[in-house]
Amino acid sequence: MLEVKDLFVAYGQSEALHGITFEGRENETVAIMGRNGMGKTTLFKSLMGVMPVKSGHITVAGQEVTRDESFRRVAKGIAYVPQGRMIFPTLSVEENIQTGLENSRTRQIPDDIYALFPVLWDMRRRKGGNLSGGQQQQLAIARALVTDPKVLLLDEPTEGIQPSIIKDIAKALNEIRKLRKITIVVSEQVLSFAMDVADRLFVIEGGRLVHETARADTDQDRVKAYLSV
Ligand SMILES: Nc1ncnc2c1ncn2[C@@H]1O[C@H](COP(=O)(O)OP(=O)(O)OP(=O)(O)O)[C@@H](O)[C@H]1O
Ligand SMILES: [Mg+2]
Repeated sequence: MLEVKDLFVAYGQSEALHGITFEGRENETVAIMGRNGMGKTTLFKSLMGVMPVKSGHITVAGQEVTRDESFRRVAKGIAYVPQGRMIFPTLSVEENIQTGLENSRTRQIPDDIYALFPVLWDMRRRKGGNLSGGQQQQLAIARALVTDPKVLLLDEPTEGIQPSIIKDIAKALNEIRKLRKITIVVSEQVLSFAMDVADRLFVIEGGRLVHETARADTDQDRVKAYLSV
């Protein structure tokens, strides 16, 4: 569903990704594990078209998106939940979700969104900025989902979120995949969360994927060693 081939990305003269290759299959969740500064956000930004790609290819459901602007990638089926969530603090929960519906005719929020995140229904009239971090993360995922993506990208969704809410987010991601059969790519530093949601795990280090493992075969100590400084 998502194919990434030999991706090179640079900040000016400074190359940050040195040939990233992986795929996310239909109805599969893939985790990209890595410490701070290893290239997770750079990878996601380049997949979403927020950062230009120096060379390499990105395809979604067989369609090339490598040089597309972000809005075209959304139309081709990619959705992105950025690190830090980036919700609109002064808009209500409902309005935040509707920003994802800009190109739909009705601006009607599908019922299954609130079924996935009941807390958002209870808080639909509240300002986004007044939600807890975990609730904002759920809001950001809901906003991404209303574009009906084939590929959902989440950059460190558990960052700064308490353990009980991390469990809720894992449950929601598993539910989303079951309902929609989409491809989910999530970057993480929390191994327990990745083990709850991902079918395959990759480790990124210094802008390269250095390890790949299926969930069932994962040597957790080995992955933890990559994640600790
Ligand atoms: N705007 C920028 N200009 C120059 N270099 C940058 C910029 N943003 C990131 N980098 C560099 O690119 C590399 C990868 O950073 P990136 O933000 O992708 O890491 P990350 O894995 O997302 O880290 P974190 O877990 O802290 O979010 C780092 O060496 C970083 O210093
Ligand atoms: Mg990051």
